Amino acid sequence: MITNPNHPARLEHNVVPGSPRVRLDAWVADVARLTQPDDIVWCDGSAEESRRLTRQLVAEGKLVELNPDLRPGSYLARTSANDVARVEGRTFTCSVDEDDAGPTNQWRDPVEMRAELDGVFAGSMRGRTMYVVPFSLGPVGGPLSQLGVEITDSAYVVLSMGLMTRLGDRVLREINAGTPWVATVHSLGHPLRGDDGALQEDVAWPSNDTKYIVQFPETREIWSYGSGYGGNALLAKKCFALRIASVMARDEGWLAEHMLLIKVTSPENHTFHVAAAFPSACGKTNLAMLQPTIPGWTVETIGDDIAWLKQGSDGRLHAINPEAGFFGVAPGTGTLTNPIAVETVRANTIFTNVALTDDGDVWWEGLTPEAPAHLIDWTGADWTPSSGTPAAHPNSRFTVSIDQCPTLAEDAHESFPLDAILFGGRRATNVPLVVQARDWKHGVFLGATISSEQTAAAEGSVGSLRRDPFAMLPFCGYNMADYWSHWLDVGDRLGSRAPKIFQVNWFRKGDDGSYLWPGFGDNSRVLEWILRRVENRIPAVRVPIGEVPRLRDLDVSGLDVTRDRLEQLFDVDPDSWLAECDLTEEFFAQFGDRVPPEFADVLRSTRYSLHSAR
Ligand code: PEP
Ligand code: MN
Ligand code: NA
Repeated sequence: MITNPNHPARLEHNVVPGSPRVRLDAWVADVARLTQPDDIVWCDGSAEESRRLTRQLVAEGKLVELNPDLRPGSYLARTSANDVARVEGRTFTCSVDEDDAGPTNQWRDPVEMRAELDGVFAGSMRGRTMYVVPFSLGPVGGPLSQLGVEITDSAYVVLSMGLMTRLGDRVLREINAGTPWVATVHSLGHPLRGDDGALQEDVAWPSNDTKYIVQFPETREIWSYGSGYGGNALLAKKCFALRIASVMARDEGWLAEHMLLIKVTSPENHTFHVAAAFPSACGKTNLAMLQPTIPGWTVETIGDDIAWLKQGSDGRLHAINPEAGFFGVAPGTGTLTNPIAVETVRANTIFTNVALTDDGDVWWEGLTPEAPAHLIDWTGADWTPSSGTPAAHPNSRFTVSIDQCPTLAEDAHESFPLDAILFGGRRATNVPLVVQARDWKHGVFLGATISSEQTAAAEGSVGSLRRDPFAMLPFCGYNMADYWSHWLDVGDRLGSRAPKIFQVNWFRKGDDGSYLWPGFGDNSRVLEWILRRVENRIPAVRVPIGEVPRLRDLDVSGLDVTRDRLEQLFDVDPDSWLAECDLTEEFFAQFGDRVPPEFADVLRSTRYSLHSAR
């Protein structure tokens, strides 16, 4: 660990008096004094700046330029083997009170953590350039938008932030005009000068074996060290837009959520806006770019990962996608599963850890049914289909502006009222294809109990469940039970104007172990039922766990689903569900008396209905 006896005792920019701009300058100077970069560059977000940084990264061997005839304006980065994903084990929530972090976050005392970080960051940028990156989440000056500044010693991070956020001068002008901003500091933890001051050679992917991803919720600060990878290093994304923003949202009465956003238009030309929370690897990007298989319906993309929701002056819940790009998982993204994503990354994309083809294009498992005969794999080694290892890292990514998405909604950069909220997991058993919540309170309960099976369990069994409440388990910046109470409070204020809440499960399996529902574009049939319910055009069937479709209301024309398999899709077995209620109660127990009492009411009434249905 680098230690520096001269480091400032603490960086308390948030208590420095003065305007937001005065605080920004003081904070940049403080961080520079601590990390000791060779120079400081304020990023303006211009095309010229991104061309210059790209040229520099190519010259340094940190980006490979792809064949401009096949993949114009696109580049490949290869990380080191120990820096390929978010590091939840090194992610810390440093609230003043440990109970405010809750049992699902790793808490550390903020004073101790600051002292530890001062040691770690001391001299960490020696020999490197420190970039100051002002960014906006949401359109600059927009009603739900927030400003931040990321200090980073990685040009790859600057380029990626330019795709994922609104970056640059416009943001600085807002700060100059007095708008507050969130402070985020990132260092690769790989200085190029030692104590003797001599410059060492750089490597293709600088990082450090020791990593820290640290959130200070009270002071709205993020400190990230040792990783150059996406969710660890692009601090606007998971660290700010979810962890810190969820705390700001709690304090200010709004919601920061791990949700995709889509606009759906019916054959009658009615438009609806839908948000959906699914845990990782449950098809969020696919639903965001869905191509309906039923005539007359269209789905347009607004966002694939994060949504900020706030009650508008009309009393309804309004949403924005705070991001300006996609940081999507490449493997499994193919012309059959998600042709829109494939089209989105046709140019101007930064790929990370995918494979390189002999003609200078990219490939990953699932892009095409057959792998090319020869590739350079994500580690930079020769690869053939007989190599026995994946050519692209399973968590390889594309980073691209949302403006390249051919199904992007015209109003994707604006805010709009939400009609429906969907919660989903990956459940082989028990959970029907779609269930409408009885009311907001029941809907919040459904969000709080999102789960996926660890292993595919047998029909009727409940297996061992991985809980991921609201798909926010790694991203909620405060006590998860307090977050549930906050959702209930928001619902109280929305009253009858609240969006309707639904639980969906595309992954239920039949007795024979095969998926009961085709999924992908055919999920439009489920969206149709949901929006017909939102319009109040059709009744539903009350079952103990909510409301399900009358089978005749679900359009399955042209699908190869038998009546028997449709019934299996919606089967609610009282004994399995009573066991499920027991597991839910056990799951809630870890949160003690912070669990909202409303959840006990929902459990009680659900159990009562299940007993009656036996
Ligand atoms: C990330 O790992 O940086 C990320 C965006 O996470 P996820 O895809 O799991 O949401
Ligand atoms: Mn995500
Ligand atoms: Na993403």
